[in-house]
Amino acid sequence: MIISSSTDYRAAAQKRLPPFLFHYIDGGAYAEHTLRRNVEDLAGVALRQRVLKDMSRLDTGIELFGEKLALPVALSPVGLTGMYARRGEVQAARAADRKGIPFTMSSVSVCPIEEVAPRIQRPMWFQLYVLKDRGFMRNALERAQAAGCTALVFTVDMPVPGARYRDAHSGMSGPHAALRRYVQAATHPRWAWDVGLRGKPHDLGNISAYLGKPTGLADYMGYLGANFDPSISWKDLEWIRDFWKGPMLIKGILDADDARDAVRFGADGIIVSNHGGRQLDGALSSARALPAIADAVKGQIKILADSGVRSGLDVVRMIALGADAAMIGRAYIYALAAQGESGVSHLLDLLEKEIRVAMTLTSVSSIAQITGDLLVRETRP
Ligand code: GLV
Repeated sequence: MIISSSTDYRAAAQKRLPPFLFHYIDGGAYAEHTLRRNVEDLAGVALRQRVLKDMSRLDTGIELFGEKLALPVALSPVGLTGMYARRGEVQAARAADRKGIPFTMSSVSVCPIEEVAPRIQRPMWFQLYVLKDRGFMRNALERAQAAGCTALVFTVDMPVPGARYRDAHSGMSGPHAALRRYVQAATHPRWAWDVGLRGKPHDLGNISAYLGKPTGLADYMGYLGANFDPSISWKDLEWIRDFWKGPMLIKGILDADDARDAVRFGADGIIVSNHGGRQLDGALSSARALPAIADAVKGQIKILADSGVRSGLDVVRMIALGADAAMIGRAYIYALAAQGESGVSHLLDLLEKEIRVAMTLTSVSSIAQITGDLLVRETRP
């Protein structure tokens, strides 16, 4: 199979993974309108093609929170990454590290923080949810800080989990889920051998370390379901802001008023995101939400954006719409599931090439030059 894009990696991942895992990463909430619009709205953003400006020298690097990034890209946090490839968080983090971009460790990862951090050179970012179990939150923050994580990515768009119909059908949840997952694993022998057997333990590494006992997939759904905290408000985040020494990013902003609140709160950055279409179906795509948010807070706070980014061209589009950098989630998980660390490295190389091509064809030689000026006005979503 020839692989030249994240679409190809998606197809390869679908072949290799047991369906419950493929559909968990691929799916969204309810009828998946927002999931689709994230991709379609971004695809509809036309950039001005400019010519004859000597584009022989391009710089794709940026500086973000005092760190140098080779590309204006970071890996989004994804729960259960270690179910997609053997010790998957380590593999993905190493690929990001080699490329010179940040890997964001999910708090509901398979590998614990301490397994990943020593295997990479540059510091990771760490993601946390607001959970009822504040003891876990404090423990996770302490451990992330001890492991040298720099930025804290605080996910706020999941006070309750969205309804994911695919999960009930695929065996991720629903009746006889454990039996169905077992049968699916047995009929996907490459995954079963590589990840199912040799990738153990399939713990939620950070949560097991805190609870002092093994956890598993059933706990993932159970723990998250029982522990999301719908009572959360900005006030509850104050101790975290004061406790965390590095930059704090609020992930899951889709509205300009919330972006202004994030500035007032004292966040260092926001991530414009609808959780990859996995939460409020029908919510605006990130591409549509971004320009108004950038109008409201650009320059006061760093703006990152995810949800719908599948290529380097999409990265350039997000930046033209107002982001300082973009993040990818599904795209790298597909590559990881298909070909492990080398797949993620290859995907990041493809992304770099696509960014360079987009910069050349729009005649910009640095990321700072990617502005709203590049947009063909009538296609601004
Ligand atoms: C968790 O963050 C999920 O989207 O399933």
